[in-house]
Amino acid sequence: MLTNNVKGTHDIIGEESNGFAYIENLLRQICELFAYNEVRPPVIEHSELFVRGVGDGSDIVRKEMYTFKDKADRSITLRPEFTAGIMRMIVQNKLLATNELPYKVYYNGPVFRYERPQLGRYRQFNQFGVEAVGNNSPEIDVEVITLAYTILSSLNLANVKVLINTLGDDDSRNAYKDALKGYFAKHLDHMCPDCHSRFELNPLRILDCKVPEDQEIVKDAPKMKDYLSDAAKSRFAKVLELLDALDIPYEVDDTLVRGLDYYAETVFEFHYTSKTGNDYGAIGAGGHYDKLVKELGGPDAAGVGFSFGVERLYSVLKDDDLFPHCINTPVEVYIMPLGEKAKVMAAQVASELRLSAYRTDVCFEDVKLGNMFKRAERKGAKVAVIIGEDEVAKEEVVIKNLATTEQKSCPLDKLIETISEEIGNEVCE
Ligand code: HAM
Repeated sequence: MLTNNVKGTHDIIGEESNGFAYIENLLRQICELFAYNEVRPPVIEHSELFVRGVGDGSDIVRKEMYTFKDKADRSITLRPEFTAGIMRMIVQNKLLATNELPYKVYYNGPVFRYERPQLGRYRQFNQFGVEAVGNNSPEIDVEVITLAYTILSSLNLANVKVLINTLGDDDSRNAYKDALKGYFAKHLDHMCPDCHSRFELNPLRILDCKVPEDQEIVKDAPKMKDYLSDAAKSRFAKVLELLDALDIPYEVDDTLVRGLDYYAETVFEFHYTSKTGNDYGAIGAGGHYDKLVKELGGPDAAGVGFSFGVERLYSVLKDDDLFPHCINTPVEVYIMPLGEKAKVMAAQVASELRLSAYRTDVCFEDVKLGNMFKRAERKGAKVAVIIGEDEVAKEEVVIKNLATTEQKSCPLDKLIETISEEIGNEVCE
């Protein structure tokens, strides 16, 4: 073999692929119910978008981006997240001037981060998310959290932990950053080199440091809640009041700061530990931002959004056996032609069945009938359609119900009628 897959990437095959399709379809339907529309931004963007948008103090920009020079010497980055690209799309296409606000979109696709691969952590993974841009109210923050919670409930993940916090307004955050600088200045000599640059670029990022010794120091750092302005406090109180009114359970976590620099006010994460004890960390996360659009040259407009990690959703559903049985759609009809003329008729019969929405497969291999039946069984087929030289001559087929083993001849013009009697039109909920 010439080469294996790139470290941190994975092939999504068979049952997993069906699982992804199930998740993505359900998420899409719910986003549509909330009146969000799909957008498909490009995978590559100019690197400066993420440096400015996600922030040069974030681990994503400092260590994790797949950045390269294109043939015209431009610095290009494979998107490490969607939000900055969506804001670029909104500004460039003047979407806030030409749409009702908030402008509400959802998206789904691969993102790339050069992280250390481990359980639930890949270098290429898929995010499904939403953004609502152009309305600054706590109601929209809560609508977005409600959308995420509705998705999780529809996936039967209602036991998810919704962690929520506020990063306050500019005044609150500036006061908090000063307090953090004062505190960490005393400990910096004992902290990792990354924290030294975080200290300069954005001391909030020190709170995300994963080095155990640094985490000990972080434990006693000042807390955001003690630096909130009155306006930030009352905005957050309104968010919590609305969540209560909607019966959405949450835990306020005053250590939650998120790892991307664009957030302000409400931030949240969804955590789920599967029954098997696997902790995938956050299966989704998001928050409110108010400078991002302006930073990229657009109007003064706030937004709020979240992204789910589709691999993580898949893993928790799989671990806890929460996929409906019907995601692995079996073949319904398996056609068994015996001889060359029968193969032509098999292709015609297959087309007719497929046009009538029966999931149909044909055995074009020259194997014995017994082997064909084994294949039909492995594929989970309900009905076999057998076509020999006699059937070709008489313009009929033999239909065998594989559950009851009863079989009968059927003229071609009664094919769909007979198959429907045998199989019915089972709908998978
Ligand atoms: P994030 O927390 O960086 O936020 O990522 C969102 C989700 O992506 C995480 O909760 C996790 O489920 C998944 N994820 C992150 N890294 C990996 C990885 N290496 N492998 C597998 N899954 C991963 C954002 O990306 C923000 N753009 C969310 C947002 C949208 N905020 C506002 N709007």
